[in-house]
Amino acid sequence: MRIGVLTGGGDCPGLNAVIRAIVRKAVGTYGAEVIGFRDGWQGVMEGEVEELTVATVHGILHRGGTILGSSGANPYHEGGIDRVRQTYRDLAIDGLIAIGGEGTLGAAAHMAAEGLAVIGVPKTIDNDIPGTDRCVGFHTAVQVATDAIDRLHSTAESHNRLMLVEVMGRSSGWIALHAGLAGGADMILVPERPFDLEQVCRHVRSRQLRGHRFSIVVVAEGATPVPGSFEVPSYGVDERGFPRYGGIAHALAPEIAARTGFETRVTVLGHVQRGGTPTAEDRVLATRFGVAAVDLAARDRWGRMVAIRGGEITGAALGDALAGAASIPDDLYEVAEVFF
Ligand code: F6P
Repeated sequence: MRIGVLTGGGDCPGLNAVIRAIVRKAVGTYGAEVIGFRDGWQGVMEGEVEELTVATVHGILHRGGTILGSSGANPYHEGGIDRVRQTYRDLAIDGLIAIGGEGTLGAAAHMAAEGLAVIGVPKTIDNDIPGTDRCVGFHTAVQVATDAIDRLHSTAESHNRLMLVEVMGRSSGWIALHAGLAGGADMILVPERPFDLEQVCRHVRSRQLRGHRFSIVVVAEGATPVPGSFEVPSYGVDERGFPRYGGIAHALAPEIAARTGFETRVTVLGHVQRGGTPTAEDRVLATRFGVAAVDLAARDRWGRMVAIRGGEITGAALGDALAGAASIPDDLYEVAEVFF
């Protein structure tokens, strides 16, 4: 067996742990060869490869980022699907394991539907890929955000301030909800539940009246206001024409300060959430996913995505990744609301 591996889309902690697990399982159990493609689908289109051996993946388990590099390249946006097919033939690979989020796995799903052998491993700190309870990188991002909220608590209290903490999450509020719960946020704003700014301000004022010297509001970058209650500025588009996020907290802060009289400060965590060493939980998940992906390949079960549901490693159809962003569960948001 000869398999290719790529990491596509935004990076996250735990990617190297997946790569290491794939190589160790493929070589150790199946005597397979593993080829790494550089910079996601870009490397597959260009045939840019490096051999992955037990030696080359030594010492990477705990390292953030990805030794293969990553990019948002998508063969379907760049007329590159024939080049992908050519690479399969040139390198005589039996199939590919694509470690990625919505975009990377979406491309993989289309390829699988066209008969190319590909298996997906879900990763994104946003944790919003349908078909799996968890994605690689999420746990670490939640820990980073929780640590930040803990630190903001003490300075907020010293200064009698309102702290707005903006976390990532374009289409779903997984990080905001989990970090907000873990960090004891006084309010959590997520894309799934449009917020009314006046209600947010009322809540902050009522805390003041009850003698609380500070408030912490966690806001997902993609949080949406109730139509007409607040205008979120547009942050333009990125290099590939996709909407940019990051900054809603800066837009909200002056408005909340004016309406509540609270001194307000903003922390946008940004890419700090995506960098650095993965938590133990992410390393374990990444390792289980990598091993499971190789087992699927060895059983010729292409067109699948590894997943975890109810703590068990399982599989899902790659096409599930096309089903839109997975939303936060209502019951968990209701738990958070107990503390608002
Ligand atoms: O998809 C993960 C994510 O972290 C989003 O939450 C965020 O909006 C986006 O990536 C930013 O990606 P980049 O700045 O790397 O394009």
